[in-house]
Amino acid sequence: MDTKPAVQLIPWAEGEDFVLLLRQNNSPAMTRFLGGPETDEQLADRHRRYLALSAREPAAGRMFMVIPADGGEPVGTVGFWERDWQDEPVYETGWGIRPEFQGRGLALAAVTSLIAHARTHGTRPHLHAFPGIDNAASNAVCRNAGFELLGETTFEYRGTNHRSNDWHHPLR
Ligand SMILES: CC(C)(COP(=O)(O)OP(=O)(O)OC[C@H]1O[C@@H](n2cnc3c(N)ncnc32)[C@H](O)[C@@H]1OP(=O)(O)O)[C@@H](O)C(=O)NCCC(=O)NCCS
Repeated sequence: MDTKPAVQLIPWAEGEDFVLLLRQNNSPAMTRFLGGPETDEQLADRHRRYLALSAREPAAGRMFMVIPADGGEPVGTVGFWERDWQDEPVYETGWGIRPEFQGRGLALAAVTSLIAHARTHGTRPHLHAFPGIDNAASNAVCRNAGFELLGETTFEYRGTNHRSNDWHHPLR
């Protein structure tokens, strides 16, 4: 019997539940490896950016709310977006699962679904993830989702350079 959790990915949209999820994701614990909590203004910007991504064609990327396949409250976020990396157009992915739902394989399920979505809708052949080198859980998710570790890199995020791993997953 397959005991892995299954999730649904809901494209980012207007609505209080999406705004609340961003706030829940903004705790000190959730942002420990991401430069710390954002201000209300930065969160509002983030919401607008995620909405804008949903308004573009699917190949440009997408942010999602993650909910359990059998329903229930939102457990986190996952998404992918375009970026240039080492002079090549690629996609980047990122994720977050609320602390009370962690350790159940939900991030792995969400990232696995995201890869399937990016394969279907994306046009770029390469997906990268850049978790901080100390972010053990996120690096484990990359490994378990079949990403290949290309090496360590310096990655600029929210105006600061972070020591990160460069993980790659082919989409073609
Ligand atoms: C990273 C994150 C999404 C993982 O969510 P999750 O639902 O708990 O992930 P999963 O249950 O699918 O897998 C977690 C894996 O990390 C491992 N792990 C968790 N904490 C760990 C630690 N401190 N040291 C080593 N491994 C750890 C688990 O054992 C598991 O691996 P396994 O299945 O091989 O045993 C969650 O911790 C999170 O949201 N963190 C804050 C936001 C963040 O850092 N996002 C990533 C930005 S790149």
